[in-house]
Amino acid sequence: MRKKIVAGNWKMNLTREQGTILISEVVNMVHDEVNSRVQVVLCMPFPYLGFAKKLFQSQANIALGAQNCHEKPAGAYTGEVSAPILRSFEVDYVILGHSERREYFKETDAVLAEKVRQVLANGMTPIFCCGESLELRQSGDYIGFVKQQLTDGLFHLSAEDFGKIVIAYEPIWAIGTGLTASAEQAQEMHAALREHIAAHYGAAVASHTTLLYGGSCNAKNAPELFACPDVDGGLIGGASLKSREFVNICKSFPAQG
Ligand code: 13P
Repeated sequence: MRKKIVAGNWKMNLTREQGTILISEVVNMVHDEVNSRVQVVLCMPFPYLGFAKKLFQSQANIALGAQNCHEKPAGAYTGEVSAPILRSFEVDYVILGHSERREYFKETDAVLAEKVRQVLANGMTPIFCCGESLELRQSGDYIGFVKQQLTDGLFHLSAEDFGKIVIAYEPIWAIGTGLTASAEQAQEMHAALREHIAAHYGAAVASHTTLLYGGSCNAKNAPELFACPDVDGGLIGGASLKSREFVNICKSFPAQG
């Protein structure tokens, strides 16, 4: 189902006290200021998952997210966390295939396909990340590359399961660099991905797929990005660590959205 979503990816930041303050500030501001049709997701480090949801109180449009999970349901994988464990802590969304995980932890699309399966099997929503490097963008076939990431990571799914996925396009050259994709660049890629989905699953599935943009998104550039017809929200890194900035991003959808 195509939704307006703003997801904060805290990455490996904030101690318990700092994170708890951030959650309570975001909860209060979202309650007072953010349209209830906007789904806010807070993707935080694993140790938060045990208590964070209680802090959301009855704020129905704030959901709990994790930043990764293992591809196996259980077993001798010291240091890892499985999808069934996440679900038992009432996690709603799981970021999968972030470029930092692809790069530093060598996650391949084949492994990601397994992770997607696990997350869906446990009733959670994958936020599947894709995006090209600067080198690829300059080489010209960046659209073909990102389409292939979707094909390899997601197109094994039935249309019904694919309909439960959220996709985040995050050009690697824009992550944490202050270099945002322009609205035209974001729209170009999002439209191409929607067409790619339509070619495989049909127009109805494609038009219901939520496509987020991520990469140096902030309160200043979000209104222009979120006004693009194929951009349904954002996956926010650095700016999600500041409550005022993050909530302003959550308020950046065009009025009719
Ligand atoms: P920044 O917003 O800090 O560029 O990070 C984007 C990101 O990687 C979100 O997953």
